[in-house]
Amino acid sequence: MLRSAWSVRRVVSAGQVGCTRSLHSKSAPFPNKLAFAFDIDGVLKQGHHNVLPQAKRVLKLLSGEDGRLPKPIPFLLITNGGGVPDEERRAALSSELGIKLTENQLVQSHTPIKEYVEKYQDKPVLVLGGKGESCRRVAESYGLKHSYIPQDIVAWKPSIWDRTELTEEERGFARPQDFSQIPFSAALMLHDSHDWGRDITLILDLMSSHRGIFGTRREGHDRADVKGDVELVFSNADVEWRSDWPIPRLGQGAFRLSLESVYKSTTGLDLPYKQFGKPFKATYDFSELMLRRYLREVGRDPEGALNVYMVGDNPLSDIDGANRHGWSSILVRTGVFHDTHGEVPSHKATIIADDVEKGVEWAIQEEMRKGSL
Ligand code: G3P
Ligand code: MG
Repeated sequence: MLRSAWSVRRVVSAGQVGCTRSLHSKSAPFPNKLAFAFDIDGVLKQGHHNVLPQAKRVLKLLSGEDGRLPKPIPFLLITNGGGVPDEERRAALSSELGIKLTENQLVQSHTPIKEYVEKYQDKPVLVLGGKGESCRRVAESYGLKHSYIPQDIVAWKPSIWDRTELTEEERGFARPQDFSQIPFSAALMLHDSHDWGRDITLILDLMSSHRGIFGTRREGHDRADVKGDVELVFSNADVEWRSDWPIPRLGQGAFRLSLESVYKSTTGLDLPYKQFGKPFKATYDFSELMLRRYLREVGRDPEGALNVYMVGDNPLSDIDGANRHGWSSILVRTGVFHDTHGEVPSHKATIIADDVEKGVEWAIQEEMRKGSL
């Protein structure tokens, strides 16, 4: 039975939304143009190991597994998280969420960067962020043959950053070279830094260097060349993100702000960099491409009109990006955003929902209602 058109707040902050009620009504056509894009942290998960129960139910609903829909509704995941090769992360998420994600259903912060960094395939690059050498494995999975990580540099010259010692494990995977002979072409931050002091120092060294060589300084005339010899690329602009701690944590965007401040005070220049990740166009354009590849993969029309609903917890990345891309947006209260004291989000969503399940149910009924008019 179709519900009447609900007011925005009541529909999604009401008590229980029936999780067993069928969602399909004979009086309304199936929403064939409907698709979802889900953020991960703060929407499907809170922290590394905490999958929200609503998330599992929603994905079973959309895949048709729970029988409440006559056929699946397509979706993909778009996260500013990363730091693990796409294939590995997809397998881990499939197991955690209890669904089988295909290669076209996951966009990590760095997935859209793969094509962009092809120009560095045969050049030395410094890859930063993430745990251990996981980001080196991401870079190598993108065809970057000379990917070095901060631990390699510190293993070469411990005095370059003497505030933290390499662990035994790090000594095990570090690949020290004579970096005084290696000109770096780029510094790629593929996930959040796990040692801000070290990573700010190394990026500063490279961005102020002559020809990307550690231990040199770009002096005099070429210092005026703001761009310098090394391209700096960030994969995620999130200043805050939601882990399993109840208060948002600092993300890669906070790291970049710190680096910008240190670079300005030590060089007098504004830090030149390229930014990927939500809410930026490259990430949403790439995600739309992936969604349409997925539609083709499941035998649906990849070119047809789509009504995509982005479900996110961060107005600055998820909602802003969806709005700019022309998608509808559902802002949930399980992550960075909260309005317990009437806070108004920085970017207006189509609706605000208590959680992903209430938001998805609303969207399905909204599309059926629109389709029935
Ligand atoms: O490091 C990940 C964090 O910045 C946010 O991830 O999934 O909420 O886009 P997500
Ligand atoms: Mg999030």
